[in-house]
Amino acid sequence: MSKIMDGKRVSQETKKWIIQKTKELKDRTGVVPGLASILVGNDPASEIYVRNKRRACGRCGMFSEEYNLSEETSEEELLSLIGRLNLDEKIHGILVQLPLPIHMNPAKVMKKMSPNKDVDGFHPENTGKLYQENPDVISCTPYGIEKLLDYYGIKILGKHVVVVGKSNIVGKPVAALMLNRDATVTIAHIETQNLPTITTMADILIVAIGDSQFIKKEMIKEGAVVIDVGINRNESGKIVGDVDFEDVKEKVSYITPVPGGVGPMTITMLLWNTLEAAETFAHGK
Ligand code: GUN
Repeated sequence: MSKIMDGKRVSQETKKWIIQKTKELKDRTGVVPGLASILVGNDPASEIYVRNKRRACGRCGMFSEEYNLSEETSEEELLSLIGRLNLDEKIHGILVQLPLPIHMNPAKVMKKMSPNKDVDGFHPENTGKLYQENPDVISCTPYGIEKLLDYYGIKILGKHVVVVGKSNIVGKPVAALMLNRDATVTIAHIETQNLPTITTMADILIVAIGDSQFIKKEMIKEGAVVIDVGINRNESGKIVGDVDFEDVKEKVSYITPVPGGVGPMTITMLLWNTLEAAETFAHGK
């Protein structure tokens, strides 16, 4: 019998802690954690994502600002906005929603951010520190996945974790994080040959490929833990993951649903990272 990993519930419990810590920080130092979100263009999914992040900030007692820039904004303008936010004392976290329009170079944009305001952990300095097992900040989705595994008491040490997807946002940082927790890690991706031979070896399978219901029961081992990072819309408009939940549910030991699994955790860990950035700021004042 499989168990659902309830990201909504874990996220609510974590938010209670964040609300408490935010209040304590404000009472002690007067510092209110502040997040600036930047959205370039009007991708509907990104708009929803940024709106949810902003609302969550408000509910946790944090300050938030949103910059909605048009698709035609130049890279120069975006870099100069980031430069101003780097110096703004009300802002402790900067989030540039990805993907950016194609005329912008995401690596250059991430590098412009002050590493201590990079609450996504995408600045090369923060990415490098995670790989060196000495992170200052952990990217929100990988961090949320780690919290979920820990909450449900799932052992990571020594387990074979297979990550499907090699994005800079999820695949690579979650692989690094699992390696830091002493898992044996395999990263598979779109060009991987004989994918089912690899996915069926996984004790913990983490899927982040953006392909509706791609993972079927033949591709997993009996009793595996399955973490589904995908958020896709199927032909009938329903939100579905990268895993065919109904097909695999009897075969897994634990599984994250979509929606209500990894998604809420990502937003919560963004708040967590913003709070930590504000605490570091207050400490250094
Ligand atoms: N686009 C999809 N996921 C993310 C994320 O975690 N952070 C940012 N900035 N953009 C994203």
